[in-house]
Amino acid sequence: MFIKSDAGFKAPLITTIDLACSLNYDYFVRFNRISSAERRFKRFEPRKKTMIEGHLPEKKNSPIIWTIGGGKGGSGKTFVCSAFATLLARLDYTVILIDLDIGAPNLHNFLGIQDPKKSLTLFFERKKELEELPMPTVVPNLRFIAGDVHSLSTEGTRLYHRRKLYNHIPRLKSDYILIDIGAGSDTHVLDTFLLADKKIAVINPETISMENFYQFIKNALFRKLTLAFRPYGFRDLIDQVWKFREHYKLKNIWDLMNWLKTNFPFSQSIIESEIASFRIDFLLNQIRTRQDIELGHIIKSAFIKFLDLDVRYAGHIEYKTEVANSIARGYPFMVHYANSPSAQEIETCLYNLIREKEAL
Ligand SMILES: Nc1ncnc2c1ncn2[C@@H]1O[C@H](COP(=O)(O)OP(=O)(O)OP(=O)(O)O)[C@@H](O)[C@H]1O
Ligand SMILES: [Mg+2]
Repeated sequence: MFIKSDAGFKAPLITTIDLACSLNYDYFVRFNRISSAERRFKRFEPRKKTMIEGHLPEKKNSPIIWTIGGGKGGSGKTFVCSAFATLLARLDYTVILIDLDIGAPNLHNFLGIQDPKKSLTLFFERKKELEELPMPTVVPNLRFIAGDVHSLSTEGTRLYHRRKLYNHIPRLKSDYILIDIGAGSDTHVLDTFLLADKKIAVINPETISMENFYQFIKNALFRKLTLAFRPYGFRDLIDQVWKFREHYKLKNIWDLMNWLKTNFPFSQSIIESEIASFRIDFLLNQIRTRQDIELGHIIKSAFIKFLDLDVRYAGHIEYKTEVANSIARGYPFMVHYANSPSAQEIETCLYNLIREKEAL
């Protein structure tokens, strides 16, 4: 027999405790949630220490925010986001994982939470503050804010809701905040992506995924420039110039930037500083061959050569059926397969991201 806790875990109902609980159900739910999560976690083989332990950054007073995006649906953004969050928590950082995939939130499945009782819907409907939403997970140090799972339409997330959310996220108390932003390149996705200290794209070694990544990066840069010009009273300038690009003979975002620099010399320093601070890290997920690994370096060179943008290749993760297994069994991958070769690959990517290094 099972009972569901607030966090959505299924926990066994123990008969002796059952008796006591009939007297105090609330107490039981609270007691059972914590002890069952701990029991479940302790059942797994401990994670073996690796070289990453000696290279961990110091904790800061304010949270470090990472966003995981990249354009194409199904590339593994949610999987990677949950894996990084679990690993950081196991490395003794406090972590809050936020599912900001508006329309298709499913991060809870990667954490073994079946039916999150609290979600961003409560924040969007102004029933709860953001600080009240993080739920415990089976992993110590890792808390989770479920996506907008309880609303019936994405209409609920209007612009002012999102702005409020962006203001509140950095105020959460945690060493790291990791945000799964979902697929696509709409304004909400791009704004969330740009909010982060570290912007990470997860792509697959296939043409469509790489094409989407390129589009995503272009759109993110365009959005960043648009936002940067707003405080200077040029609120719609970039949008308008781009709208009439044929008239101005602009073919791409680089022509647009050159046009701005020529016509508004003051814009040169703004553009340069925006590009300099536009750092994107990417990793290749679901790779199947050695050639796939090399693709990461090829993509990096292409970005430098054709776009003059330095994107950083953090590493690769192989395609493994264990990923689906861990979801089906309801355990986070980095707990269930903590010492597997895939976990090592994820750890290498995390190491490179933390140390601002690249795959060799
Ligand atoms: N390295 C991997 N090996 C095997 N399967 C994987 C791997 N990474 C992800 N998957 C599987 O691919 C599917 C999609 O993964 P995931 O949901 O993380 O993608 P996503 O990019 O978040 O998708 P969406 O854009 O729809 O949010 C899942 O079923 C997951 O189990
Ligand atoms: Mg996803």
